[in-house]
Amino acid sequence: MRKFFYLCLPLLLLSCTKVDKNNDQTDNMKDAVLENILTRKSVRQFTDEPVDKADVDAILRAAFAAPSAVNKQPWEMMVITERQLLDSIGSQLPNTRVSNNVQIAFVVCGDMNNRLPEPIQDFWVQDCSAMTENLLLAAHALGLGAVWCGIYPDPVKVEKLQTILSLPQHIVPLCVVPVGHKAEDPEPKDKWNENKIHYNVF
Ligand SMILES: Cc1cc2nc3c(=O)[nH]c(=O)nc-3n(C[C@H](O)[C@H](O)[C@H](O)COP(=O)(O)O)c2cc1C
Repeated sequence: MRKFFYLCLPLLLLSCTKVDKNNDQTDNMKDAVLENILTRKSVRQFTDEPVDKADVDAILRAAFAAPSAVNKQPWEMMVITERQLLDSIGSQLPNTRVSNNVQIAFVVCGDMNNRLPEPIQDFWVQDCSAMTENLLLAAHALGLGAVWCGIYPDPVKVEKLQTILSLPQHIVPLCVVPVGHKAEDPEPKDKWNENKIHYNVF
């Protein structure tokens, strides 16, 4: 019995070190995810270096992993890479920060024909917003810059973008997100505000 114990001891110790290592890796992963959320910031100046296809795919996968009410997924994603379209967006909608340098912009849209029924039809805005935040966080995790540029609910901006992108009426753009290599690296803003947290009683 004693012999068996001494034979097993190294294995036991080895598996303990492995568990420790796995715990360390999990802790590092948790820290990295939280750090990514806390350090995300809007970036509005980009170099003209194109974004790798692998990064575009990773961003799209993260975007489509967003939650949505009743898992309706009422979204459509436009990926804009054509210079002429980017230039039209930038000149007609200057708030979108689509400068000459921008090589790719994502347009998160809601499909009005694929919404939840009344009275909860407007959940599409929250669903597409969740998708947009996922997109921003993925871009930041990949070391890229991005900024959420609002379109909906401004009817003038919605119509302009629908015209530029030849979108059908039922496809409503929520926002434009230019993504690229950073030509500026602003500090993340500290928005922590304990006064806005209310435990149980307002
Ligand atoms: C709904 C929404 C609309 C926004 N629209 C614009 C915009 O049109 N142009 C722009 O440069 N930034 C826009 N922003 C980015 C905000 O200005 C930015 O998130 C805010 O100043 C906080 O800064 P941070 O993203 O660096 O934390 C928008 C953000 C949100 C959530």
